Amino acid sequence: MTTPEQSRVTLSRILSAADANLLGNIHGGNIMKLVDEAAGVVANRFAQGPAVTAQMDEMTFLAPVRVGDVLHVSAQINWAGRSSMEIGVRAECDRWDAVTERVHVSSAYLVFVAIGPDGETREVPALEIVTDEERRRHREAQIRREHRLARRDAIASSRTTD
Ligand SMILES: CC(C)(COP(=O)(O)OP(=O)(O)OC[C@H]1O[C@@H](n2cnc3c(N)ncnc32)[C@H](O)[C@@H]1OP(=O)(O)O)[C@@H](O)C(=O)NCCC(=O)NCCS
Repeated sequence: MTTPEQSRVTLSRILSAADANLLGNIHGGNIMKLVDEAAGVVANRFAQGPAVTAQMDEMTFLAPVRVGDVLHVSAQINWAGRSSMEIGVRAECDRWDAVTERVHVSSAYLVFVAIGPDGETREVPALEIVTDEERRRHREAQIRREHRLARRDAIASSRTTD
């Protein structure tokens, strides 16, 4: 069994002018890609094989990232079901031109689903929750899952009544 702590990864990258938007800051889409990649590393390792992104929850950008800043994207698993997993991701940056506290740039929750060689969803191992912090994240992930599925089902049923 794997714990959230054992699943944790951090990807770090220097952002360049090629990643910038028209204002000269880093394009949000480039940060989203790194968030998806970090979550994917966690999901594939935990699932011991391929897992695909099924959903990325609402993602807010709290502070701009500048060209030359070092972006650190940390991800860990919060919750695992039969075939799906919720991965929590936090993006922070070090300013390239000052020794300051790390700046919190963005946070997101992503759902990944494990896929077998036949292309069908497959079971993932059990997640072992150890610490109180992991228990809190697991409980909150369960609430988010119920909301995601309820929203998906409500939209699907509204379409059948059209
Ligand atoms: C993700 C995908 C495999 C789910 O297929 P599906 O037919 O809905 O599969 P299921 O109904 O069996 O659901 C599989 C799991 O995903 C969960 N799930 C599906 N949609 C979900 C959503 N919107 N939010 C949260 N969980 C979701 C289900 O609850 C189930 O979880 P469990 O097995 O842990 O109980 C399918 O939608 C897909 O292949 N999407 C494309 C993914 C992709 O290619 N991503 C890369 C970017 S292009």
